[in-house]
Parts: sequence; structure tokens; C-alpha cells
Amino acid sequence: MTKRSILITGGAGFIGSHVVRLFVNKYPDYHIYNLDKLTYAGNLKNITDIENAPNYTFIKADLVDANSINDLFNQYQFDSVIHLAAESHVDRSITNPLEFVMTNVVGTVNLLNAAKELWKGNMDGKLFYHVSTDEVYGSLHDGGFFLENTPYDPQSPYSASKASSDHFIRAYHNTYKIPVVLSNCSNNYGPNQFPEKLIPLFINNIRNNKPLPVYGKGENVRDWLYVVDHARAIDDVFHKGAIGETYNIGGFNEWTNIDLIKVICSTMDRKLGRAEGESEKLITYVTDRAGHDLRYAIDANKIMKDLGWEPSLQFEEGIDKTVDWYLNNQQWMDEVTSGDYAKYYDNMYAKR
Ligand code: NAD
Ligand code: DAU
Repeated sequence: MTKRSILITGGAGFIGSHVVRLFVNKYPDYHIYNLDKLTYAGNLKNITDIENAPNYTFIKADLVDANSINDLFNQYQFDSVIHLAAESHVDRSITNPLEFVMTNVVGTVNLLNAAKELWKGNMDGKLFYHVSTDEVYGSLHDGGFFLENTPYDPQSPYSASKASSDHFIRAYHNTYKIPVVLSNCSNNYGPNQFPEKLIPLFINNIRNNKPLPVYGKGENVRDWLYVVDHARAIDDVFHKGAIGETYNIGGFNEWTNIDLIKVICSTMDRKLGRAEGESEKLITYVTDRAGHDLRYAIDANKIMKDLGWEPSLQFEEGIDKTVDWYLNNQQWMDEVTSGDYAKYYDNMYAKR
């Protein structure tokens, strides 16, 4: 097996930590460099199990700092990049769009420039893999699914920044012949997700008997995939994806928010020994998210047919495992909800 030197960005975050774990454990002959700024969303506690592995190195750095990114490429001679680092929460992008432009757009271009410089003259065996989102395709109103060739139509500052980064990836492939591959995934859920996102936030609030803030009427639809299945798909795209191609990733698993929330409530009632229906009483309808996309739904046939990937878990099993993980890792939750979290929560929800 070829020794590879792989830079994974955002590996202390939710999805990145599962990708880093999979690569470190599955490919002992690869060296995995995990670059992360450790923002509020980055947490080294997510990956303590692999922190001493001989094929793993953590690098604290900010993608926006072009000089340090260039220096790191020179120092470690990365031959591949799996780029996950991003500002990822739609609500925060509505409050502070510029931060999303800096990390998601400028940060991505800084990485592309560093790869272009190091790899110029010899692109053999090189790969820049960009991990993106289904939100770049916009919002579905009249049925149908997002396909790889669905026109881009981003509706939030977050999705506009991710769409922009996708365009830069393709532009660098076309202009400088950087070997790239992209994937666009639907909503992930599972262990280690920061409790600003719907599922861990609601699990934590139910546990603490706090209101469950449902945006609008709870009719928006999301397509949910267990995070480990996304990490497995990233492994397949990295090793088997065709250069220049895009792969949509999803589990054909659509839920309206309110139906999903009711599943979480009844799972929590069961696990906590509460009376059936107890947690649903916490549901509180609040002011909708500005510009709230109605529905996302991924057609994942291309990755299933071309690369042989398929989800490993049924949704009920995934939710059960997820709730168990949060209930068994209360210390993790307490740590990430200490400090600035209370301020974030007040700013986001007090006036809704
Ligand atoms: P996350 O917010 O949990 O983690 C992001 C990580 O990036 C954190 O560890 C953070 O410290 C790091 N980071 C942020 N800014 C940085 C910077 N300037 N320099 C270096 N590191 C920085 O995000 P996530 O949910 O794990 O998402 C990972 C990627 O997958 C993102 O690109 C996101 O757009 C994409 N994605 C997410 C989902 C989802 O449902 N969460 C679905 C599809 C695609
Ligand atoms: O589709 C992929 C995207 O999924 C990723 O690119 C993003 O990084 C990720 O954050 C996620 O975006 P969403 O906006 O869909 O996820 P979020 O968990 O924020 O919200 C899910 C749905 O739940 C959405 O319709 C808004 C609603 N919601 C969310 C929160 C936080 C509520 O009703 N109440 C809430 O408090």
C-alpha cells in the first residue's frame, strides 16, 4: 500500500471527528494530519481514542491564515486533502455572515492555493476532496430530489458560502488541473454533534425539562443520515470517486421536523422512564428561521451504483444509538454547554 500523507481539516468537529477516526483506524499506513482551529464547534474530546495513534498528528491552525497554511503544506508535504472545516450552523450565518465568508470561502481558497503551489508540475497521486452540503441546491417546493446536476440556488448565507467554495474547487480543477472530487450530503445526526443543531439541542433540552423551540409550524422537511454512514461514504469517494466528479450522499430518509421531534420525545420518554407523552409537552412553536428552506431531499443513486455505498443503519436504530450516546456522555454535554453556550442560547432563542 502507498504511504499517503493526508490532511483532514475540521477533524475536531462533528463529522470530521468520525472521518479522522475511520481513516486512522482503517489505514495504519496512511499518516493523518488533523488541522483544526478549535472554534466553539471543535473539541479534541471528540477524538481522545485515537490521539496517541502513531499515524496521527493534530495541528491547531486557522484556514484564514494563508501563510501558516502554506508553511504547513511545505512542512508536511500533504499529497491529499479532505476538507471538512467550515462554519456550519445556518442560524449563526444569519447573525454573522462575514465569518462564513472568511472560513468557508477564503479558507477554502487558501487551501487550494497551498495545494496548487506544492503540487505544481506533478499532480500524480494528488487529490483535493471537498466535503459540501445539499443546501447549495436550495429548497424543494414541488417534490423531486436533488441530483448532482441540479442547478445551484443557495438561500442562506451559510449555503451561499458553501456554494461559493464548491465553485472555487471546480474552477481550480478547470484552470490549474488540480485533481478534485466533491460530495454533497444531507443532514447528519449522531454522537458528538454540537447542541446548536436540532437533534442534540432537543435531546439536551428534554433531559433538562426545557422548552423545545420548533421553528414556524415544524413542517420543514430534512433528509437524515447517521454520521458514521457519511464517514463511510467519504472513505468510498476518497478512494473510488472519479476525478472532477460530484457525489450526492443521503439515506432516502425524509422527515418533517415535527414528526422527527415526536420520535425524539418518545425515545427520550422511554429511556428516561417518563410517562409516554411527557416530553412532547415541552414543544413550543417559535418565530421561524429567516428564509427557512422548506425541504431538502437527496437522490443518492449515483454513489450507490457507481461506488457501491449504502447506509448501514435504519433510522430508528440510528436515533436509538444517538440518544443513548448523549445520555451516556453527559460530561461531554456539560462541558460543551458551559462557558459561551448560555449566551449563544439567550441571543438565539430569548426573543423568538
Ligand atoms: P462542525 O461545525 O461540527 O465542525 C467544524 C469544524 O471546523 C470545527 O472543528 C471547527 O473548529 C473547524 N473550523 C471552523 N473554522 C475553522 C477555521 N477557520 N480553520 C480551521 N478549522 C476551522 O461541522 P460539521 O457539522 O462537522 O460539518 C463538517 C463539514 O460537513 C462542513 O463543511 C459542513 O458544511 C459539511 N456538512 C455538514 C452536514 C451536517 O449535517 N452537519 C451535512 C452536509 C455537509
Ligand atoms: O442539509 C445539510 C445541512 O444540515 C448542513 O449543511 C448544515 O451544516 C447542518 O447544520 C444542517 O442544516 P439545517 O439547518 O437543516 O440543520 P439544523 O439542525 O439547524 O435544523 C434542522 C431543522 O430543524 C431545520 O428545518 C430548522 C429546524 N430547527 C432547528 C433548530 C436548531 C428548529 O425547528 N428549532 C431549532 O432550535
